[in-house]
Amino acid sequence: MNERKSYSLSLAGFGFQVTVTTRQSSHMTKPSGNSSFAPDWQPIPGVDGVFEIRRSHGPLPLRAVAVQLHAGSVCVYSPVPHMGEPALRQLGSWGKPLLLAPNAFHTLGLPEHATAFGNAEVIASKRAADRIKRKTKLDVQDLDVLRNQLPAEVSLLALPPVRSGEVWLSVHRNRRCAWIVCDGFLNLARASSGALGIFIKLMRMGPGLSISSTFRWMVKNRQQYRNWLLERIAEDQPTVLIPCHGQIIDDPDLPARLERLTRERL
Ligand SMILES: [Fe+2]
Repeated sequence: MNERKSYSLSLAGFGFQVTVTTRQSSHMTKPSGNSSFAPDWQPIPGVDGVFEIRRSHGPLPLRAVAVQLHAGSVCVYSPVPHMGEPALRQLGSWGKPLLLAPNAFHTLGLPEHATAFGNAEVIASKRAADRIKRKTKLDVQDLDVLRNQLPAEVSLLALPPVRSGEVWLSVHRNRRCAWIVCDGFLNLARASSGALGIFIKLMRMGPGLSISSTFRWMVKNRQQYRNWLLERIAEDQPTVLIPCHGQIIDDPDLPARLERLTRERL
């Protein structure tokens, strides 16, 4: 049996309301037949100590990424909702989670994780903190709390002023670099249908690797952001991109692809 549901979505840092036709059971909790769902944490091949878990919000794929820091410490980038007890236990086995909200809009999974891990700290940029506090009623710590706990091969990439207060992680392990990003880069696998599909097409959200028009709007100074991004790509040479929305890219040509896209879109 089908039914129509409305979702408040945040994609590429832009909130909107969309109505989709769904099966009666929830997209968020039903694993079967949902390619965006992975029931538990899965290792990212070729990047030691980095794991992903996939859920969805209505029709949108969501990904959280766990980065093991020191022994007994793990950072969760963009905690997702509807984790389930086994996945939470798996996460807890790695140590005390630090919950990194990557921007002001990715808040859905924070209350669930904060309840599961009473001592977990929620961390976000100053620009994102007010909305996160308002939406979740949780305390939010400054990025320095995370910076002080990062090993040398993991760094926090604080974007030049973006309205959503977005931050990324850069992980240098196994002689390669992986970027963990939120709405700044999308890689949706295929075109959606209906209202969401129209919105995605209009906003240049894909399919494929993209910088959406909605994210461009979030950038306060496009030239400054463009220069910063080109410098970071040249410096890090990331060959793995792990986005919150869409498929992971593992490609030696990724730096050139990111540079081309940056020059084209910013
Ligand atoms: Fe998003």
